[in-house]
Amino acid sequence: MSKDTNASANPAAKLWGGRFSEATDAFVERFTASVSFDQRMAMEDIQGSLAHAQMLSEVGVLTAEEYEQIAGGLQDIAGEIEAGQFPWEVALEDVHMNIEARLTQRIGATGKKLHTGRSRNDQVATDIRLWLRGRIDLIGAELTRLQTGLVDLAEREADTIMPGFTHLQSAQPVTFGHHLLAWNEMLTRDYERLMDCRKRVNRSPLGAAALAGTSYPIDRARTAELLGFDAPTENSLDSVSDRDFAIEFCAFAALLLTHLSRASEELVLWTSSQFDFIDLPDRFCTGSSIMPQKKNPDVPELVRGKTGRVNGHLVSLLTLMKSQPLAYNKDNQEDKEPLFDAADTALDCLRAFADMVPALEAKKENMLAAAAQGFSTATDLADYLVRKGVAFRDAHEIVGQSVSFAIERGADLAELSLQQLQQFSADIGEDVFEVLTLEGSVAARDHIGGTAPAQVRAACARAKKLIAAR
Ligand code: ARG
Repeated sequence: MSKDTNASANPAAKLWGGRFSEATDAFVERFTASVSFDQRMAMEDIQGSLAHAQMLSEVGVLTAEEYEQIAGGLQDIAGEIEAGQFPWEVALEDVHMNIEARLTQRIGATGKKLHTGRSRNDQVATDIRLWLRGRIDLIGAELTRLQTGLVDLAEREADTIMPGFTHLQSAQPVTFGHHLLAWNEMLTRDYERLMDCRKRVNRSPLGAAALAGTSYPIDRARTAELLGFDAPTENSLDSVSDRDFAIEFCAFAALLLTHLSRASEELVLWTSSQFDFIDLPDRFCTGSSIMPQKKNPDVPELVRGKTGRVNGHLVSLLTLMKSQPLAYNKDNQEDKEPLFDAADTALDCLRAFADMVPALEAKKENMLAAAAQGFSTATDLADYLVRKGVAFRDAHEIVGQSVSFAIERGADLAELSLQQLQQFSADIGEDVFEVLTLEGSVAARDHIGGTAPAQVRAACARAKKLIAAR
């Protein structure tokens, strides 16, 4: 049981206190308040109020003097907030009522006119969209920084040979540049998803008021324009209720983190002494308090781990929205913390990757040595036999026998003699050794999307063009 007593003896102290005869229970006051977290949208709230007040003055609902007074007061409040001097009060519930009450405190009765023709329901929907749009732009820029570094590295590593894997078993040789470009493709799709989401975020719900619109002669296109939105939203009920744009953003973030977690996993594997493919500079690693030899790849591990919380936020918001009747419900107050954290986490993880990727150092000899093991050119031998007229299935069988023979001798295919290879097929000639080399294998995959160094360079050029066109 709560030991709280009533917060305030005077119910009319609330901006909505008129019809209440007793004060809010102190626990309920804290339970229903959102100011501890929605004050993050304070600047967007002020921006929205400035546009609303300007529009009200333009349509004659406020006088020019009233607007000047309100705008001046809001700007002063913005200064107070920036200076960390704003007196946030839980009793005033949320960011909207804190700022509105402060305005009236500072400029007097005119402050009470700001809320004409709007509701907190369209106000909060506007604030979230403005806030999220700002985050989308920061995240887009960071994604671009990461991709720029990634494509540069891919270009530098266009000739570096490493094993390509399926089932995490050595499969066929690829170039390191080609592998990095695979990550880049994932991130390009993430960027496209983000920009697509932005279109639906960037619509103005302001003017939907509580749920049905308002009887004042408001100009919704004008506030949309003043706030840099593409257009007003179409339906007032939908405008104050649906948070699908936030869900979409979280879906983007979950996929982004999923992609970063895959790259992280590979970095963790590659920095292990078992693989030893890359060196991750010390500044991205930490040590162990007990094992002096350890250098742990904490940054990629943490990015991999943070994927869990972002996936969780997506599910939170989907569940929050599910079955909500029209229009606004207080449930929606729960949209902010998951959304804020998804955006913060996405931005931080991108920053970590954008800083880390250009600093990765490929250990080329180790990559090459690993590619030379595991019979990674076996497919090339089969393709060679096909070119000599052998059916692919027969070629597959011949190469399988050759591999088994080489395993028994602890040798690789390229280390067998011509006579040894010829026991399995008379079609094998002296020229077989060209296709058994790693360089020959990668260079042969010379088509769009293939791993040949020439194709990797061409793909880098295309990727750079795409990035430059953003
Ligand atoms: N703090 C509220 C939220 O985040 C603002 C809207 C409140 N509207 C209402 N009718 N109680 O959703």
